[in-house]
Amino acid sequence: MNQMRSTVAVVGAGHVGAAVANALVLLRVCDQVVLYDRDLALAEGEAWDIADTVPLLSEMQVNAAAGYADLVGCDVVVVTAGVTLEPGQTRLDLLGANADTIAGIVGELDRVCPAAVVIVVTNPVDVLTRIAVEASARPAHLIFGSGTVLDGARLRHRLGELLEVEQESVHAYVVGEHGDSSFPVWSSATVGAIGLEQFELPEGRSWPQVKDELAAATRRRGMGIHERKGFTSYGVAAAVARLVRAVTRDEKRIFMVSVLAATEYGIGPVVLGLPCVIGGAGVNRQLVLAMSAGEQQMLQNSALILDQAYRSLAVDRTRAGTETKS
Ligand SMILES: NC(=O)c1ccc[n+]([C@@H]2O[C@H](COP(=O)([O-])OP(=O)(O)OC[C@H]3O[C@@H](n4cnc5c(N)ncnc54)[C@H](O)[C@@H]3O)[C@@H](O)[C@H]2O)c1
Repeated sequence: MNQMRSTVAVVGAGHVGAAVANALVLLRVCDQVVLYDRDLALAEGEAWDIADTVPLLSEMQVNAAAGYADLVGCDVVVVTAGVTLEPGQTRLDLLGANADTIAGIVGELDRVCPAAVVIVVTNPVDVLTRIAVEASARPAHLIFGSGTVLDGARLRHRLGELLEVEQESVHAYVVGEHGDSSFPVWSSATVGAIGLEQFELPEGRSWPQVKDELAAATRRRGMGIHERKGFTSYGVAAAVARLVRAVTRDEKRIFMVSVLAATEYGIGPVVLGLPCVIGGAGVNRQLVLAMSAGEQQMLQNSALILDQAYRSLAVDRTRAGTETKS
C-alpha cells in the first residue's frame, strides 16, 4: 500500500491531544489536522492556537471539529480522550473510567471513517486497545496502541548518553505493558553492530547494575514527570507523530506498539507492546522477537497483569449490568 494519507483527526484536545496536534504540524506529518473534544471551546482554542503557527512554518490546515461528522474521510485518528492520572494512581487504575469512553468513540469512528487507521493513546493504553479492537468492526490491523514507543525512546536516550554514542545507533527495545511491568529486551540489544555487553562501560560500572538502573529509570520516568507537572505530553506527542508519519508515508518502520500478541509468544490473547512494521495498512505485520527464558517470563508476567485487568473490567461491567437491572 503506497498511497499518501494526509488527514489526521485527534480525539481529545487535552494536554496530550493538543500536544499531538501541535507535533503533527511542527513535523509536517500530514496535510490537515482535525481536533475534536466533547468540549468544543477547548478544541477550538487549541486548534486556533496551533493554526497560528502555520503561517510561520508550514502549509497545513488545522480545524476544530464540532462533531464526529467532521471526521468523515480522515485517514488516521489518534484517540487521546479520557481521564488522566491522579496522584498515587497507576495507569491501570484509569481502566474503569476510560473503557466505556473508548468503546463509544470507536463506535462513532466506525460510522464516519471505517477505513481509517486508529491509534489509541489513552491509558491504560494496552487494555484500551484490546477493548477498541473488540468494539470496532474495522480489521484489527487498522487499530493499534502507542505501546512502549516512548519507553524505548527514553531507554535509548539514556543508554546513548552513558555510552557516549548517538542514540539512533542504540538498538534497545522495551516491550510489554506501557506501565509498571514493561522491560527492556537486553538479550537482543546492540550498539551499532556490537552486542551491548561487549561495549565498554565507564570506570566502576557493571552491566548488571547499569541494566537494573536503566530499566527502573525508564519505568519511573513518566511518573516523575507527572509528579512534577501533573501530566505528560511532549514526549508522547513526538512518539505518536512518528507513528502517524509511518502510516501517512507508508514507512514500514518498526515500532513497539500495543497489538494482540502473535500466537508464537505463547501468552494467550492479550494486547501489549511488541514489535510491528507500521505502514499504510496500520500494522503491516507483527514480528516475533526472540527472548531469553527470563525475558519470556517477564513477558508472561506483563501479559498476566494486563489480562487480569481486562477480565476484572468484564466482571465489573457484568455486575454493573446486574445492579442496573435489579
Ligand atoms: N500512552 C501514552 O504513552 C500516554 C502518555 C501520556 C498520557 N496518556 C493518556 O492520555 C489520556 C489523556 O491525557 P491528558 O493529559 O490529555 O488528559 P486531559 O484531561 O488533559 O484531556 C482529556 C480530554 O479528553 C476529553 N474527553 C473525555 N471524554 C471524551 C469523549 N467521550 N469524547 C471526546 N472528548 C473527550 C476531555 O474533554 C479532555 O479535554 C490519559 O488517559 C493519559 O493517561 C497516554
